[in-house]
Amino acid sequence: MSKVTVIGAGNVGATVANVLASKDFIKEIILLDIPVKKEFAQGKALDTWQQAPIDYYGTTIVGTDDYAATAGSDVVVITAGLPRKPGMSRDDLISVNAGIVTSVTENVVKYSPNTIIIVVSNPLDVMTYAALKKSGFPANRVMGMAGILDTARYRAFLATELGVSPKDIQAILMGGHGDTMVPLPRYTTVGGIPVTELISEEKLDAIIARTKDGGAELGRLIGTSAWYAPGAAAAQMVEAIVKDEPRVFPVCAYLTGQYGIKDLCVGVPVVLGKNGIEKIFELKLKKEEKELLKASAAAVSNMVEAFKNLKLA
Ligand code: APR
Repeated sequence: MSKVTVIGAGNVGATVANVLASKDFIKEIILLDIPVKKEFAQGKALDTWQQAPIDYYGTTIVGTDDYAATAGSDVVVITAGLPRKPGMSRDDLISVNAGIVTSVTENVVKYSPNTIIIVVSNPLDVMTYAALKKSGFPANRVMGMAGILDTARYRAFLATELGVSPKDIQAILMGGHGDTMVPLPRYTTVGGIPVTELISEEKLDAIIARTKDGGAELGRLIGTSAWYAPGAAAAQMVEAIVKDEPRVFPVCAYLTGQYGIKDLCVGVPVVLGKNGIEKIFELKLKKEEKELLKASAAAVSNMVEAFKNLKLA
C-alpha cells in the first residue's frame, strides 16, 4: 500500500486527492498547502474522509502545512501555483509559479528522495522542467500532466459530435500544453475505426480548434481554471504508477533527442508504470506533423529560456 502527497489544496489539488481516495488503492494521502491555508487543507481532507463511509473506501487523508508529514511518499502531485490573472503576462506567471514550484520541489525532495513527481501547475511544460531541474531526479521520475486532459477534451467533443460513448474514443495529442498542441487525427479511433472515416475534415478541424481553446473555454464559463477533468487526469497517472499497470498516455516528459527535441519537457506518448516513465514511444511522424511539433517545442523553449533567466534551479 502506498502514500501519495498532493501539494496545493485548491480546486485541482483537492480534486486529485478526492478522486484518488475514492478509488481506494492508496493507504494514505497527504494534502499540503501553505500555512495560511492549513485549515483549508485540513477541511478538504476531513470532507473527503467523511465521504469514505458513503463510498466505501479506506484511504486515510490528512491536511497539513508541514512537509515532515509527506516523508516517504511514493508519488507527489504538485498543483501549487497561481492561476493567470487579468493583466498578467505569461512571463509574470512563469516567474511567480516557477518560484513556487521550485521551492515546493526542494521540500518534497528533502522528505521523499525516491518519489515520483507529477506536475500540474501551469505553464505546465516549463513547470515540469523547473521541477525536474530543481529535484536533480532522473527524467523518468518527473513528469507533467497535460496530454491526458487535452485528449480527454478532444475525445469528449468527438463523443458529442458522433453520438457515441467517450469510452470508445482513443486518441493521442503531442507537444506543449496550449495553443501549439499537436493533434494527430490519423491516430484517433472510434471503436477501432479511424475517425477520419466518420467525420468531415471541416468538423474535425473545428473540434481540434475547440480542444486547443479547451482551458480558456472553461475559464470563460466558470471564471477560473477547470478542476474536475484536470484532477481526474492527474489521479489516473498516479494510479498507473502505483498499480504498475502499465498504461500508455500522452505525458509531458523530458526529451533527450527523441523527435529531434533536446533538453525540453513536452507531451509525448509514454508508458507509465512503477518507475514513472518506463518508455517513450517514438512515432514516425509525417513531415507536417513534425513541423507542428517543432513549432510547439520552440514555443516551450522560449518559456524555458524565461525560466532559466530566473536562475532558480
Ligand atoms: N506551497 C503549497 N501550496 C501553495 C503554494 C506553496 N508554495 N503556493 C500556492 N499554493 C496553493 C494555494 O494556496 C492554493 O490553495 O496552491 C493552491 C492552488 O489552488 P487554486 O488557486 O484553487 O488553483 P487550481 O485551480 O487548483 O490550479 C492549480 O493547476 O491546472 C493548474 O493552472 C492551474 O497552475 C494552476 C494549478
